[in-house]
Amino acid sequence: MSTQAPIAPAPAEEAGRVTTFEPVIIGFTCNWCSYRAADLAGTARTKYPPNIRLIRLMCSGRLDPTFVLKAFAEGADAVMVSGCHPGECHYIEQNYKALRRFQLLRRTIEALGIEPARLQLVWASAGEGVRLAGEIARMTEEVRALGPLDWPAGDIVDIDNVKLEAAWEATGGDADGPPEAPGGVNPEHGAPAPATEAAL
Ligand code: FES
Repeated sequence: MSTQAPIAPAPAEEAGRVTTFEPVIIGFTCNWCSYRAADLAGTARTKYPPNIRLIRLMCSGRLDPTFVLKAFAEGADAVMVSGCHPGECHYIEQNYKALRRFQLLRRTIEALGIEPARLQLVWASAGEGVRLAGEIARMTEEVRALGPLDWPAGDIVDIDNVKLEAAWEATGGDADGPPEAPGGVNPEHGAPAPATEAAL
């Protein structure tokens, strides 16, 4: 996601037709579980709405709160944070940190005039492609009912000092491409890659 250009909306406009609002949802996913669940859904041809743009982090605990604010500021209508189920984080308990940040962020965005439902947390293991696809579909409908966000963030948040893209690239994240090979470690059964400063 560029730090310069706003997020392009999903195509919904057709000349001469009244079209349905198509929300843009940014999905921050964990490399070891939810990103793979989304990949599994694709492999199994389980359909989910194209409204979500996935960004891969090494762990949900890597989610800096500014990532979420930056997503809203650049045009996202909603943000999904997804990670390993509690007790299953590959970095011990970083997903509990993500949970705390999520709870804090929900209160923060509400204070900034954003409906809390625009930020949602979903736990999903690597094998839960169908369930994750269902959660994406559910959230898409909920956000569609809320309508566009159009958050006037520039007046509220100093977004120029939020380095989302650099942080994202530092994790090796790729919004569109497949996950990288896990370096010989089966994320389902093997030991996780060692946590590093760059990764976490
Ligand atoms: S949430 Fe998946 S590794 Fe931490």
